[in-house]
Amino acid sequence: MASDTPYPELKKTHTMAHKGRPWTDYKPPPAAPVWSVIEGLGSYYILLAALELNVFDTLESTGPVGVDILARKLDVSEPHLQSLLDSLVALGLLDQFVNIYELNDTAERYLTSDGAASMSDLVPVAPGPHNNWLSLAETIKNGKPGDPIDNDPASFYIPLVEGTFTTMLRTAIRSDLKIRYSASPDLKVLDLGAGGAPWSIAFLSACPEATSVVNDFAEVLEVAKRKTVEHEVFDRCEFRPGNFQDIEIESNSYDLVVLGHVCRTEGEEGAANLIDRAFLALKPGGRILVADYFIDLERKFNPHGVLMGMTMMASTINGFQISNEQVSLWLRESGFESLRLVEPIGFQFVYVAVKPFN
Ligand SMILES: C[S@@+](CC[C@H](N)C(=O)[O-])C[C@H]1O[C@@H](n2cnc3c(N)ncnc32)[C@H](O)[C@@H]1O
Repeated sequence: MASDTPYPELKKTHTMAHKGRPWTDYKPPPAAPVWSVIEGLGSYYILLAALELNVFDTLESTGPVGVDILARKLDVSEPHLQSLLDSLVALGLLDQFVNIYELNDTAERYLTSDGAASMSDLVPVAPGPHNNWLSLAETIKNGKPGDPIDNDPASFYIPLVEGTFTTMLRTAIRSDLKIRYSASPDLKVLDLGAGGAPWSIAFLSACPEATSVVNDFAEVLEVAKRKTVEHEVFDRCEFRPGNFQDIEIESNSYDLVVLGHVCRTEGEEGAANLIDRAFLALKPGGRILVADYFIDLERKFNPHGVLMGMTMMASTINGFQISNEQVSLWLRESGFESLRLVEPIGFQFVYVAVKPFN
């Protein structure tokens, strides 16, 4: 074990150039990053339990309230609830004043089931199957997860696309500010791996004569059917079940092809093939949209993207992070031009590229 020698107090002159690495050589680093990882597991399950017990929706209906009343309403043990509520306060997910608890802005927007950007259905499913995290070291040893979602994609994706729907619909609606799809009332759209069809719904809602071919596995398309009925665009959708790598797709027929968070589970070959398929499907002048969590060449400036890639790796056979360089290369190699990267809402990135006329 390395000895932990006394160290002098850091001075301004203790720069790397003069004295060596300050933390390593003069003062031990704080343990906070390690504690934050350890507590990460508990933090996640605290939030999960609060959602399962309906804490946020109940606080929305009661308004500011004491733990005794809330415990009676939720039919749970008061001291245990107190501990849960205090932890949520510590995590910044509730407000507390003396003994009164209330929703803060974050909880109201993201954690109530009717919040403007509700993530309440996303929290349980976003990390993928929890068991795959328990066997992560095995996955890294073997080069594949023990129980990849590829074995039964529909049962994983149905709750996932329900959970991501609100966020993706906001992304799709807000992307009009950047790419002005609403200027083309009669768009022909191809939405591959559409999930609950948030992209198609945004396009068809903004463009009164637009139509969309909505693809996914047959079971997942049931979610898309329900959502498109709810948003009153069902009649302008054709639902085309099947594997997007080999379903039949018309050439030179579409104005927009959407690959919304589908590339990062496909592996390099699969992702490049999807982009090729999109190119063939588009009319000259048509546009592809590739939404994903892209990382930089050095793989460290977008931690959210890196960790999303890890989530893919933990639970899919071919899942991996996609870098900006890779996706740009695939787009250019397929023949796309005028590449643009837009961020319609925070942390949601979309490449837009055009199929040239010749
Ligand atoms: C992360 S979700 C994205 C859903 C939607 N495009 C969005 O942006 O919100 C990925 C979707 O791709 C679908 N998918 C995955 N592999 C597929 C395949 N081989 N063929 C068709 N759909 C597939 C899944 O069922 C799921 O609905």
